[in-house]
Amino acid sequence: MFRSKINRLLKSESPLDKVLVKGWIRTRRDSKSFSFIELNDGSCLENLQIIASDTLENYSQIKNLTTGASISVVGKMMESPGKGQKWELDATDIHVLGLSPENYPLQKKRHNDDFLRTIAHLRPRTNKYGATFRIRSELSFAIHKYFREKDFYYVHTPIITASDCEGAGEMFNITAFDLDNAPKVDGKTDFSMDFFGKEAKLTVSGQLSAEMLALALGNVYTFGPTFRAENSNTRRHAAEFWMVEPEMAFYDLFENMDLAEDFIKSLTSHILSHCSNDIKLFANFVDKNLLSRLEKTMTERFARITYEDAVKIINNSGRTFEYDLSFGKALQAEHERFLTEIYFGGPVIVYHYPKDNSPFYMRLNDDHRTVANMDILLPTVGEIIGGSQREERLDVLVSRMDELGLNQQDYWWYVDSRKFGTAPHSGFGLGFERMMMFLTGISNIRDVIAFPRTPKNIEF
Ligand code: 4AD
Ligand code: MG
Repeated sequence: MFRSKINRLLKSESPLDKVLVKGWIRTRRDSKSFSFIELNDGSCLENLQIIASDTLENYSQIKNLTTGASISVVGKMMESPGKGQKWELDATDIHVLGLSPENYPLQKKRHNDDFLRTIAHLRPRTNKYGATFRIRSELSFAIHKYFREKDFYYVHTPIITASDCEGAGEMFNITAFDLDNAPKVDGKTDFSMDFFGKEAKLTVSGQLSAEMLALALGNVYTFGPTFRAENSNTRRHAAEFWMVEPEMAFYDLFENMDLAEDFIKSLTSHILSHCSNDIKLFANFVDKNLLSRLEKTMTERFARITYEDAVKIINNSGRTFEYDLSFGKALQAEHERFLTEIYFGGPVIVYHYPKDNSPFYMRLNDDHRTVANMDILLPTVGEIIGGSQREERLDVLVSRMDELGLNQQDYWWYVDSRKFGTAPHSGFGLGFERMMMFLTGISNIRDVIAFPRTPKNIEF
C-alpha cells in the first residue's frame, strides 16, 4: 500500500493501485450511485477527489458526512474523466475518523479575516490560511538556505536578556517574583533577590550578541523570536515576531545594503518558484498587483537615497501629510508609503538618518549629525529592514553611550569587543512577518502569524 500526502499523489506520473490517504472533507456532493468527496490534507492547496460508490458497505454513513469530517481512504488512483482534476481516487474502503457537526464554523463560503481571527485555532484549515502557513514554512527554509550557501554560520542568541539593544524601552519584564509579594527596598522592587539577581527582559533584538559572534566567526545570522512591548495597535506591529539578523565582520554600510537587497530578491524568487500554487491564490483573491510587484522587486535595483534627500522629496511633493517633517524628525508610515509606493514605485533604501534618536551602536558619520544606518522600505508593508554599520571606535562608542545615559557597566562585554581587535562590521534585521505580508499581499500582521500576540490579545 502506498501511503501518501495529497501533494505527492497529485504529482504522480501514473495511476497507483492501492493508495491510503487521510484528510478532512471540504465538500461532498451526491450523484445517482456515487458520492464525490473533495478531500484536503493540508499538504497543498489542491483537494483530491474521492469517488465513494454506493457499493461501499458504510455508504449510508458516508452519505451523511459533512464539511470538516476526517476520514481515511483506501483506493485506486486513476485518471479522472471529469474536468478540473487529473487524478481521482476510487475508494474501496472509507473509514470515518471524526465527525463534524453542523455548527462547524468553516462552512463552504468565504469568511472575512476579522471573523477568522476569532477562530485562529481553525483558520489554518481554510485555503488562504493553509497557504499562508505553508509559505511561512518555505520562507524559513529559504532563509537558512540563503545564508548557508553564502557560508554564514547560524548562531543562537538569548531570548532572556538584561540589555535593551534598541534603547527604546519597549521591553517585557521577566520575573520569578510573586508580583503581589515582591521584595522591596526604598519602595522599589529589589531585583537583586530575583531569579537572575537583576532585572531581566525579553529581547527586542539578538544583535548585540550576534555582533560578538560575528567578531569571532566572521559572517553569522540569527533567526528567532523577538518581543516588543510597544503599545501600537497597527496592522504592522506584533508584540512577538521573528527577526532574521545577519551580522558581518568587515562589512561597511554599503556592503550591508548590497547583501540586504540581494537577500530580499532571493527570498522573493525562492517563494515564487517553490510556492507557485499558493502564491497564485493570493494573486487571485487577495492582491491583484502581487505578481507584478514581486516581479519588479526581483528584477529592478532598489532606489537608494539619504534621509536628508528623503525629507526634501517629501517636503517638495506638494502633498499634505499628517505629520510634518524636518531634519531630525522620524519618517512616519505615511512618508514611507509615499516614497516607496508613489515616488519610487518600488523598494527604497533610505540611509544616514540623524544621530539623535538613533541607537547607541550605530556608527557616527564624519558629519557628526548622521549615522551609518539604513532602512529598507517596501511597497505595502513599509519598513522591512533596519540595519547599520556598527560603531567600532571605542572612544566614539563610549561617548555615545554617555550621551544617551547608558551605563557602561551594563554593557561591559559589548564595550570589551571594541578594546580587543575591534573591526568594522555591519548587520541588519529583517522582520519575518513583514516579509510574509509582502510576499502574500496580506495586509494585517495578525494574519501571517498562527496565534498573534498584540495589545490586549493573547487568546489561543
Ligand atoms: O529596525 P529594528 O528595530 O532593528 C533592530 O532591531 C536592529 N537591532 C536589527 C539589526 O540591525 N540586527 O527592527 C528590524 C525589523 C524592522 O525593520 C521590522 O521589519 C521588524 O524588525 N519589526 C517588527 N515587525 C513586527 N512587529 C514589530 N513590532 C516590529 N518591530 C520591528
Ligand atoms: Mg527600525
